[in-house]
Amino acid sequence: MRLNKILVNLGEGANLARDVGSRGDLRALASMLGPAFRGLVLQRGKGEALTSMKLDYAAAFDWRYRREFPAMARLYEAAKTSQWNASTDIDWSRTVDPDDAERPLLPDSFLPMAELPGFKNATPAERNKQVHSLLAWLLSQFLHGEQGALFAAAQVTEAVPWLDAKLYGSTQVVDEGRHVEVFHTYLTQKLGKLYDINDNLYVIIDALMTDSRWDVKFLGMQIMIEGLALGAFGTIRQLTGDPLLKDILRYVITDEARHVHYGVLALRNLYTHELSEKERREREDWAFEVALLLRNRFLVHEFYDEFYAHAMPRARWNQTVTDSGMMVFFRKTMFKRIIPNLKRIGLLSDRVRSRYEQAGLLGFEHGKAAPELTAEDLLDDR
Ligand SMILES: [Fe+2]
Ligand SMILES: [Fe+2]
Repeated sequence: MRLNKILVNLGEGANLARDVGSRGDLRALASMLGPAFRGLVLQRGKGEALTSMKLDYAAAFDWRYRREFPAMARLYEAAKTSQWNASTDIDWSRTVDPDDAERPLLPDSFLPMAELPGFKNATPAERNKQVHSLLAWLLSQFLHGEQGALFAAAQVTEAVPWLDAKLYGSTQVVDEGRHVEVFHTYLTQKLGKLYDINDNLYVIIDALMTDSRWDVKFLGMQIMIEGLALGAFGTIRQLTGDPLLKDILRYVITDEARHVHYGVLALRNLYTHELSEKERREREDWAFEVALLLRNRFLVHEFYDEFYAHAMPRARWNQTVTDSGMMVFFRKTMFKRIIPNLKRIGLLSDRVRSRYEQAGLLGFEHGKAAPELTAEDLLDDR
């Protein structure tokens, strides 16, 4: 890795540490430091074929096979009847043409680079190439997130103490495997381009995979990343003109709705009745830090490196992306899905309310939480 790249990454790592440390959340800071070092400085996951992560958690066997969680059992039944086959239920014969003006991959008005000279003054072919790459970047992050979800679902299936939750978890493992399959197929067969994992996404995935507490895995994956995914999938489904991608996202969103519901069911009792107040606060701080990471740090740097690094400093690019129509829309749909669920599981107490308010995220607190949401609500997201 070139020295200047290391320095830029170190700077970003220090910003992250300063953000977290400045609020005095030492436990949250400690749990993020290892993942941040591996993701931002060592750039794990980039340019390597395999990354191996050391894990440390306990699998819980239930020899009594108690079926004592009826709401979870109902979710398991719903999941069994909602399975689909990615290779036969989707019509993969359709072609995807980035130059088809009738069916633009993404509309110009939402692009973060729409107002930049490097886009405005480019030829139509060059503009289409950038849009194609931007979509490939976004979907590559979905793919990497789905791989994280596949492993996290397997982990929580082992670690969760209730049999009904283990049975449900087994269906999520299948769901996430199918999501890896569809995004990988679309990226490699239809777009022909695949990007490495974004370093901030790596940090979050590493943090929840390597945490030994099973509920933190649930919190990180089922509530935070799945919330992000629902927002992002809904956004792209609304925006894209490609019918094949719309179809894929409709199927995936329907599955993800169950996954967030699973997280809320598993954590609600634990956080509101079983954890000590100190332990609950630690989760509350951790969730807030991850919310800020999700809000602030998906700045499409791999795309910037390819198309805009020669033309503008990274700080200006960051501002451009943060203010863009796509990111504004995306933040809205993402937090509309995350905040009501945090409230439902007891992680939005008066103690952190003002922090969320300062970050501009409290407006979503009266939205529907996962147990009330239907797949239709999610597909209608705007
Ligand atoms: Fe998924
Ligand atoms: Fe999921």
